Amino acid sequence: MLLEREAELAQVAEALRAAAAGDSSLVLLTGPMGIGRTALLQQLPMLADGEEIRVLRANAAPVEQDFTLGVVRQLFDSLLTGAPGELHESRLGEEGDLYRTVFSDDVPLLDDGGTLTMPEEALYGLRSALAAVSADSPLLILVDDLQWVDAPSLRWLAFLVKRLHGLRAVVVCGLRDGYRRPGDPLLREVVDAARRVLRPAPLSLGATKEVIHEQFGVPGDEEFARACHETSAGNPLFLKSVLADLAVGGLRPTAGQVEAVRSLRPALLRERLAGSLRVQPRPARDLAAAIAVLGGQAEPDLLARLAGLDPIGFLATLRDLHEVGLLAAEQEPRFLHRVVQDAVESSMTVAERERLHDAAAALLYHNGRPAELVAAQLMAVTNSGHPWAVEVLRAAADTALRRGAPRTAARYLRRALLDGSLAGEGRARLLIDLATAERGFDPAASERHISQAIPLLTTPRLRAAAALRISPTIVGLGPRRPSICCTRSPRTWGPPPRWRARRAMWRCGSRRGCGTPGTRIRRSWPPRWSACPRWGRSRR
Ligand SMILES: Nc1ncnc2c1ncn2[C@@H]1O[C@H](COP(=O)(O)OP(=O)(O)OP(=O)(O)O)[C@@H](O)[C@H]1O
Ligand SMILES: [Mg+2]
Repeated sequence: MLLEREAELAQVAEALRAAAAGDSSLVLLTGPMGIGRTALLQQLPMLADGEEIRVLRANAAPVEQDFTLGVVRQLFDSLLTGAPGELHESRLGEEGDLYRTVFSDDVPLLDDGGTLTMPEEALYGLRSALAAVSADSPLLILVDDLQWVDAPSLRWLAFLVKRLHGLRAVVVCGLRDGYRRPGDPLLREVVDAARRVLRPAPLSLGATKEVIHEQFGVPGDEEFARACHETSAGNPLFLKSVLADLAVGGLRPTAGQVEAVRSLRPALLRERLAGSLRVQPRPARDLAAAIAVLGGQAEPDLLARLAGLDPIGFLATLRDLHEVGLLAAEQEPRFLHRVVQDAVESSMTVAERERLHDAAAALLYHNGRPAELVAAQLMAVTNSGHPWAVEVLRAAADTALRRGAPRTAARYLRRALLDGSLAGEGRARLLIDLATAERGFDPAASERHISQAIPLLTTPRLRAAAALRISPTIVGLGPRRPSICCTRSPRTWGPPPRWRARRAMWRCGSRRGCGTPGTRIRRSWPPRWSACPRWGRSRR
């Protein structure tokens, strides 16, 4: 069911009527990815129903760009398939030599430099063959995805569309927006020859509801339909992919599924997007990668620098990405859908992704951005090698702790520990910070990290201070095994100055809830917690 394309169909119907009267023309069908060019092209032969119109079709594909004259062959093959006897015997039979020249695999059509060697007479000959066929019945020539047509075919198309007089034909070419490639001059020639340019519009909310009805067999809730319309921005490909994924997951079009609509990332759509991204020119791919890495809220200046673009190149590339259909708005570096982000990420290798995150971290750091922003980038890099990385991660952990996010702080600190540059006391300090962050949600890990830190500390005072970081929970409620406080680590502490030990014990006793310092504890070194009146009782 093709929705809201009546205007485009009417335009092609009018062009066909004019062609039948001898006024041939080229119609260009443009628009971003997934807007429905192919669906519309497939619908066009219906216009010929009941009329004496011959339809020739060809679809170009990225993988067939090296297939010389692939598109021309498809067009003429469909001519032969349509009426073999007639064509062989009458018209095309006369052009036999020409066909052998053009379609024989033995004839090299490109020289070593890749330039087309197809003789002029072959160009004219093919056109004459079409003219002869169109004398009997008007032709509707459909070429989809002009951006991927092989160079020799494109040359012939550029030749043909400028010489449509004398034919009775309408050529309709689908061309995806925002496509640039070295063969652009020929593409430009075809585009410039178009009499009509059709740009199918995004589907309205009403059409979105119809698609939902068609997919689920029932009309969807208003909120559901609105969420679908908003998420897909009226793009039929996005809409259908999301709905198909919902249906496969057994979900119904109800208001309760609004969140699912917003968060779905259909794998098929991701692959299609990734494929289309791969054939984009380098700047577009770099900018898409920069947006994926820095996020849609990033400042344009930083995005441009990460993508290696100057301000003018940045704006032009942003426009290209929007034309391709990857961005939500023209001058806004924000992806249309979360699945675009996935597609961009999946089109990068792991090494590329790490390199970009590392570069983003450096860019943010040198531009004085908050530690947590820099840390978020460092988290995606296995080994950054920046001398400032550990300090940034520490500062980010501090910020996270202050805003009450100890798990995030612990993640930053764990990442900092991976930095090979740290050893000795520096590493111990990190372990202690990590243990402190973990105290509230993972006391066992906290204890483990303290016990790893203590042997790295050089003075008894530091070791004692480290021990004091252990959560009271783990001291009081831990399993019935000697706590590191009581036996294992203290053995390595060595005899400290007596007043330090006392102070440490006093505080430690207080933390455990004894309230007043226990005299027996104070006197012992290493500390024996079993001597504490309260804790010792609870352990017995
Ligand atoms: N007007 C429409 N009404 C309903 N469904 C549509 C409409 N246009 C397209 N579709 C559906 O949307 C999906 C994508 O359409 P289509 O493949 O034609 O887009 P496209 O513009 O050719 O995409 P691409 O840029 O990848 O070539 C298809 O499932 C198609 O059936
Ligand atoms: Mg298409």
